[in-house]
Order: sequence, then structure tokens, then C-alpha cells
Amino acid sequence: MENKKQSSRKEISELENPYFDLQAEMGFTKHLGGLKATRELIELCHINEDKYVLDVGCGVGMTACYIAKKYGCRVVGVDIHEEMISRSTERAKREGVEGRVEFQVADAQNLLFEDALFDAVISESATAFPEDKREAISEYVRVTKQGGYIGLNESTWIKTLPPTEVVEYLFRSAGGVEPETSEGWKELLEGSGLSDIVVKTYNFPLLGQFVSDIRMVGFTGIFKACGRLLSLYFKNSTYRKAIKEMAKGARGTPKNLLEYYGYGIYVGRK
Ligand SMILES: C[S@@+](CC[C@H](N)C(=O)[O-])C[C@H]1O[C@@H](n2cnc3c(N)ncnc32)[C@H](O)[C@@H]1O
Repeated sequence: MENKKQSSRKEISELENPYFDLQAEMGFTKHLGGLKATRELIELCHINEDKYVLDVGCGVGMTACYIAKKYGCRVVGVDIHEEMISRSTERAKREGVEGRVEFQVADAQNLLFEDALFDAVISESATAFPEDKREAISEYVRVTKQGGYIGLNESTWIKTLPPTEVVEYLFRSAGGVEPETSEGWKELLEGSGLSDIVVKTYNFPLLGQFVSDIRMVGFTGIFKACGRLLSLYFKNSTYRKAIKEMAKGARGTPKNLLEYYGYGIYVGRK
């Protein structure tokens, strides 16, 4: 019922960011490296059952729920999109972890938490979006306890300098993403006063990504997301237009994109 209300509201207003609006409607968000990258981030941030964790840019709450379920710890997820938070809350109930996970709308650049609250702050494919990444990371540091960890899994230029058409294509087709080089991400962490910095970079995992997405949400999750996409396409003219635009954009994928585009895991200690 609630979803129907949201969709019809979308028919009369323009979509805020078609890329994220569609993902929220589909109940599916992702990050490069999938579950494998999430596990690596969890390990490097020393997350276990005693830790209090913040996931910034949590999307539809997959990682926050996964951590709460697997490690039994308390997790807060924040996202700037209200519908992502609705989906996350639904997911937590569905997965039976609503007692351990909370979700709130918040901008990474302005976290509404007291200082030194969390043992670890993680962010997957989200810190490449805020206008001021430095401000976002300094917020992550502010809300982390002394000795705690900040861990990012972020879009990375694995080779410089990417040609303008590659930079523009990615920005246009992936919701306004602005990757950094691994040096750029490292400097952002160092500039926020973090130490013991770990940097690991990876190429875009073409087949691995697909396999990992399936492991994260299951075949049922993928089918449901595709079903919702089809339903939006046929029932909602605003989304139909957005899907067509995105498909048109994807057809123009630069052949050399994967020469330049990958991801990195960046972890620092406060
Ligand atoms: C590519 S999705 C990744 C979502 C999730 N972390 C995952 O791995 O599935 C990026 C998310 O970042 C959120 N986001 C973008 N800008 C943000 C900001 N300034 N503050 C908080 N969240 C933001 C988007 O709404 C979206 O849910």
C-alpha cells in the first residue's frame, strides 16, 4: 500500500536522481566487489559482536542487516534518500534483525550523532557522491571512538588520467559518482588525521560482481528486483522515461572504461 503511494507520488513529481530512485524502487543497491569486498572491509575494521557500527550511504540496508545478522552487533544505517531508509527498515524486519539495526535519513556531510559514538564507520560506494568528500570523512572521524576504524569501499580511478568521455559517462550513468585515485582516497583519510592506513585496489570484477551480487541477495532477490523494474517500466511513465534514458546512456559505454575504473578498500584508525 505504502509503495503504491510512493510510486504515484513519483508520477506527478520529477525524479530526484533517477539512478537512486530506481534502485530504491527495485530494493537493490550495490557496490563494486560485492560481498567479498564487504567481508574484507568488516575484517579490516575489526567488526565483531561487541562493536557499534555505522554504515553511511546504506542504500537498501543489505550490509547493515548482514553485519547485524552475522556478527550479532548493533548497527545504524544512514542514507540521504528517504526511500532507501524505508526499504532498509522493511529489510531489517524481514530478516528479523530490527532489534539490532536502526535506519535514519542523514547526509554523510552532516551526521546527526554525538562525537565518538561508534567503534567503526563504514561506507560502501557512497562517499564518492557527496559534494564535499573531505567534510563527509571528517564527520565519519568525529563520530568514531578513539582507536576505532573508518573503512571505505569506493569507486577508484585505477589508472590516471581518465579521458573526459570516461569521467563524464560515469558521472552521467551512475548517479553523479566522482571517483578518486587510490592516492586521492588515501590523502583524504590521512588529511582527516587517521593513521595505520590500509589501501587495496582492484579492477572492476566483471563476472565476480555478478556472482557476488547473487550471493548477497540470492536469485530470488535478483528476480524480485527485475520484476519491480519491469512493473515500473510498464506502469509508470516517469520511470519508463528514466529507464529508457539510462539504457540509452549505457549503450554509449566507452570501450576503455574498465581500463580506468575499479574500486578500492581504504581503512584508517582514529
Ligand atoms: C551506490 S549506492 C550504495 C548503497 C550501499 N552502500 C550498497 O553498497 O548497496 C550509494 C548510496 O549512497 C547514498 N548517498 C549518496 N549521497 C549521499 C550523501 N551525501 N549522504 C548519505 N548517503 C548518500 C545514495 O542514496 C545511495 O543509497
